[in-house]
Amino acid sequence: MSSTETTILRALIEKENGFVSGSILARSLDMSRVAVWQHMEKMRRHGFEFEAVRARGYRLIKRPDNVYSDLIHAYLAARKLNFDLICCEEVDSTNDETARELAAGREAPFVVVATKQTRGRGRFGRAWHSEANGNLYISFAFRPKLEPARMQTFTLWMGVNLCELIANFTRTTPGLKWPNDILFEGRKAGGMLTEARIDADQIRDLVFGLGLNINSASDDWPAALNRRAISLAEHTQTPLDINKFTAALIGRVLDAYEQFISGAYSKTFAERWHQYDILRGKTIKLQRGTEIIAGTAAGIDDEGSLIVKTERGRTERFRAGEVTIEKKP
Ligand code: BTN
Repeated sequence: MSSTETTILRALIEKENGFVSGSILARSLDMSRVAVWQHMEKMRRHGFEFEAVRARGYRLIKRPDNVYSDLIHAYLAARKLNFDLICCEEVDSTNDETARELAAGREAPFVVVATKQTRGRGRFGRAWHSEANGNLYISFAFRPKLEPARMQTFTLWMGVNLCELIANFTRTTPGLKWPNDILFEGRKAGGMLTEARIDADQIRDLVFGLGLNINSASDDWPAALNRRAISLAEHTQTPLDINKFTAALIGRVLDAYEQFISGAYSKTFAERWHQYDILRGKTIKLQRGTEIIAGTAAGIDDEGSLIVKTERGRTERFRAGEVTIEKKP
C-alpha cells in the first residue's frame, strides 16, 4: 500500500511542472487540507520545496539530493513490483545490512539504499569511498536456489543491464570492465559486489551490491581517487535526479533477476556484454592470486568467463581475476 507522501508526490510528479489542487489531494487521501500541508512540511525538512499558490494548489519545485524512499516509490508508480525498500541515512555497508536482514528472515526480494556508508566495501576487501556526496550505495537481496557456479554470470548479467539503463538514461555510452566495473573515460563510475551464502550446493541467499557515482563533483574525491573515479554528472555535465534514476534501476534489476532465474537471458547475454566491453582486443594482464597471465582480451563466453589469447598463443578462459590494461609502448 502506498504511503500518504508517495501519493502526494506521485500526484505532483504526474503534473510535471503544473499545480495540483490542495483540496483534490485532501479528498483523494481522505484527510483535511491541513493534514496534507503537514505532510508537505515534513517533506520540506528532507529537501523538497513546494510552491503554494492560492486557488491553484501546490507545485513541486525542488527534489532532495539524497535517496528518499517515498519519492522512489512515487517514480515507480506504474510498476507493480513487490519488494521492501529500506532507505538509510547512514549504514556501515548496504551489503552487510542486507545480509543481516536476510539472516533475520526478511522476505526477499528487498532493497537497501543509503545516503552514506561508513564501511563500504569493494572486491578483495577494499574500501569503497561512500560519503554523502550524491552517489548511490544500494544492495538487493534475493533467495535464488541456484547452483553457486552461476553467481559469476549473475554479476556480469547485471552489469549489462546497468549499462543499458545508464545509456538510456544519460544518452551516453558507459564501458564494462570485466568482471564488475562500470567506466566512463577510462575512469571508474561504478562497481558491483555480489555475495552469497551457500547451503548444500545451492545459493541460499544472494546480495547484489552496487556503488554508482551519480552526482559527486571531481573535487569531492580524495586525491588518491581523483584521476581514477568519475560520476555520471561529471561525465554528462548535468546533475541527475538520483531518486528517479534509483527507481528505474530498481525496476531494471528486479526484471533482470527474473530473466536470470528463468534462463531467458542466456542467448543474448554475451553479445550484449560485447557492446560495452572495453577490454576486447586490448593487451592485458590478468592477476589470479599470485599468478599473472599476459595476453589479449577476446571477449567473454556464455558463462561470463573472460577469454584471453595468451602470449603463448593459447586461448584460455578465466572465471575470476583482476585485469589491468597494458599501456601502449
Ligand atoms: C568493487 O568495485 O570493488 C565493488 C564495489 C561495490 C560497492 C558497493 S556500494 C553498495 C554495496 N555496499 C558495499 O559495502 N559495497 C557495495
